[in-house]
This record gives sequence, C-alpha cells and structure tokens, in this order.
Amino acid sequence: MKLCVIGLGYIGLPSAVFFASHGLHVHGVDIDLERIEKIKKKEIYVEETGLKEMMTAVLDNGSLTVSDKPVEADFFLLAVPTPVSPLKSANLDYVIRAAEMIVPYIRKGNLVILESTVPPLTVNNVLIPILKQARYIIGEEIFVSYSAERVLPGSLLEELTCNDRVLPTR
Ligand SMILES: NC(=O)c1ccc[n+]([C@@H]2O[C@H](COP(=O)([O-])OP(=O)(O)OC[C@H]3O[C@@H](n4cnc5c(N)ncnc54)[C@H](O)[C@@H]3O)[C@@H](O)[C@H]2O)c1
Repeated sequence: MKLCVIGLGYIGLPSAVFFASHGLHVHGVDIDLERIEKIKKKEIYVEETGLKEMMTAVLDNGSLTVSDKPVEADFFLLAVPTPVSPLKSANLDYVIRAAEMIVPYIRKGNLVILESTVPPLTVNNVLIPILKQARYIIGEEIFVSYSAERVLPGSLLEELTCNDRVLPTR
C-alpha cells in the first residue's frame, strides 16, 4: 500500500516516517525545496526524540521517498498549515493548493485524509469540491476523511502511536 503525504512539517514529517516504519510505502511532498534536500541528507528540522533515527532507517530501506511533486498512491494525507488570521479565521489557502496538487494523481479507490486543523464544514465546502475535479464519485469511487491531528510537541511519536482518533469518512 502506498501513502502520499502532502506537507512535511511538524505533523507531516513524523507521520510520513511513522507510516513508512509500519509497512507502508510512503512518498512525502513539500513545496519547500530546502526541506526536501535536508530530508534526503537525513538532516532533521523537527526536534522529536527518536525521529532522526527512524527517518534514517526508512530512507535507507527505501520505504520513504520525498520530492516536491505528488505521486499516485492508495492514500493521500494532507498535513499543510492553516494559520489563523488576526480576525481569527483560518487561512485555508494551503489546504486548497494541496488539494489542487493531488487532483491529477487521484485514481479510483483512493482515500484522501485531511489532517490539518480546519473549521467545521471545510471538508464539505472546500476539499470535496476540489476533489470532484478528478471526476470520481465521492463516497463510491473515492473516499474522503477528516482526522485532525492532536499531538503534544515533545512526545509526538508516542502520541501518534497511542492517541485515539475519531474518523468521519464519506
Ligand atoms: N504543530 C503542532 O503541534 C500541531 C498539532 C496539531 C495540529 N496541527 C495542525 O497540523 C497542520 C500542519 O501543521 P504543522 O505544524 O505540521 O505545519 P508546519 O508549518 O510545520 O509544516 C507544514 C509544511 O507544509 C508545507 N506545505 C505548505 N503547502 C504545501 C503544499 N501545497 N504542498 C506541499 N507542502 C506544502 C510547508 O512547506 C511546511 O513544510 C496545521 O493545520 C496545524 O494547525 C499542528
């Protein structure tokens, strides 16, 4: 099974590494080319105990690859920023761009998971209309899920392993 993770920041990089070390083939994507080059050189920019060693292992055994472009996959996980504006609304531009980036790579049977923190109805009103451009029926031919990440900095790998999740999917 192949997973494509969009956004290799504080949430996306450990998630990509974690899934790669648990049997999935993972391709990580970031628009920040400096970050891509650092990962390829096995340099870490997310400080979490054990992450560098785990990342080095999955890069060495080929279960994690990275680039600035998505690839076809079974699952797509979007972990891009959603900064809050001074007026206290979430900036969804990164989510919109990430969703648009994966549309050409979506195939029948795919599951797209939004991991970013977003306001209610973002999946229905923002993500799904973009994914419909791939011309598959949502909920029958391709599937969409929202799984907001809730981890505490400093114990991220443990939290990724142990935290329960609620997964609305259609
Ligand atoms: N950091 C936390 O502790 C934490 C905890 C829970 C939830 N979250 C949420 O998770 C989401 C991601 O946060 P983060 O802290 O990982 O952000 P981050 O800023 O650390 O990383 C985001 C990454 O996404 C990349 N990116 C942006 N647009 C892209 C695109 N179109 N394609 C590919 N890459 C793209 C950026 O270059 C960056 O490397 C946010 O919604 C945040 O609110 C964060």
